[in-house]
Amino acid sequence: MLDIKKIREDFPILRSGLVYLDNAASSLTPQSVLQKMMEFYNEYRANVERGVHRLSQRASQEFEEAHRKVASFIHAKSEAEVVMTRNATEGINLVAYGIGWRKGDRILTTLLEHHSNFIVWLRLKRRLGVEVDLIRPSKEGILDPRAFEDAITDKTRLVAVTHVSNVLGTVTPIHEIAEIAHRYGALLLVDGAQSVPHMPIDVQRLECDFLAFSGHKMLGPTGIGCLYIREELLEEIEPLCIGGGTIEEVTSEGYKLALSPRRFEAGTPAIAEAIGLGAAVDYLQGIGMEALAEHERHIVEIIHRGLSSIKRVRVFGPEDWKLRTGIVSFCIGDLNPHDIALALDVSANIMVRSGFHCAMPLHTEVLNERHGTVRASTYLYNTKEEAEALISMVEEIARGLM
Ligand SMILES: Cc1ncc(COP(=O)(O)O)c(C=O)c1O
Repeated sequence: MLDIKKIREDFPILRSGLVYLDNAASSLTPQSVLQKMMEFYNEYRANVERGVHRLSQRASQEFEEAHRKVASFIHAKSEAEVVMTRNATEGINLVAYGIGWRKGDRILTTLLEHHSNFIVWLRLKRRLGVEVDLIRPSKEGILDPRAFEDAITDKTRLVAVTHVSNVLGTVTPIHEIAEIAHRYGALLLVDGAQSVPHMPIDVQRLECDFLAFSGHKMLGPTGIGCLYIREELLEEIEPLCIGGGTIEEVTSEGYKLALSPRRFEAGTPAIAEAIGLGAAVDYLQGIGMEALAEHERHIVEIIHRGLSSIKRVRVFGPEDWKLRTGIVSFCIGDLNPHDIALALDVSANIMVRSGFHCAMPLHTEVLNERHGTVRASTYLYNTKEEAEALISMVEEIARGLM
């Protein structure tokens, strides 16, 4: 059981009494993360991997330590497999432009995806002529591994799939999909933006080749994210940017790239942000990811059950809580989702997301919701009372429609 009262004290923004249920968009940040970032600015503000003076040495050590913390958090084999990016989106783009595509290559992805793991592939189709095959999830947002088995071909070079739907909270059976992808010689990219912050992750057990995620959704600062690249692929994947910091040696004729992760992290990186992400990982590990996931399951079950019992409210996703994480999307009658979100903020201090949540094909082609949905998404600091406040406010709005 989490000590929620104590946890909430670590998040000064919650003192104002706001109910923050927009964690799938971005999480709040605890004081310890902010302090760790301030320590960089106040005590050892210098560039990394460049200077011999002691400030630069300390900054480099802390920056490298952040890579080690993230590597251990996702059970990577070593920090070489952890590339700091700006966010999940950049990590996915790195993979898209890092693979040496060949004529006839195919990419297999799904209609469940966030645009960051969708339009990237459509652009490759437009620019490089690779083919994109799409798998349709069920209306509840479930992806069936058998559909991957049916759609994959010997030409499929990459399978790109989300681990957790950012709209429906459903969990994709990654391990089964990895087995299918590898049997056909394809690589597997997992969009972990909504899974890494909320559940224990072991990239070796998942058997994925790439895992992209963002720091700002897991208590870290904005402007920092990670891409896990499986050890065997580190030399094969071309960096998105090269330049200062990425090389071993340069002559007038050419260059030799440094080992990973440096070869992928061109220019001066987001140093304070990376160190802040390391502190966020410390915080999450201190709480325990199993306990955190259990807490979210409890809160989301209250929300799901409560909203489902209200007349005129449509709740999306599976009823079975074992198939979902802390995300619930819903609509009230034919009210515009933005109006609902605004009413929740103005009348009850509740922050939720509304619209398409960067997953337009899912809304328009699977859920048939032309204006999108309202999304409540939980994290470790949310309480049963907050869940109940959301339910009673939604009830009041729905009653107003009668
Ligand atoms: C499933 C999923 N993938 C990718 C992203 C993109 O994350 P970022 O904007 O941090 O790059 C998000 C953000 O909401 C997401 O939910």
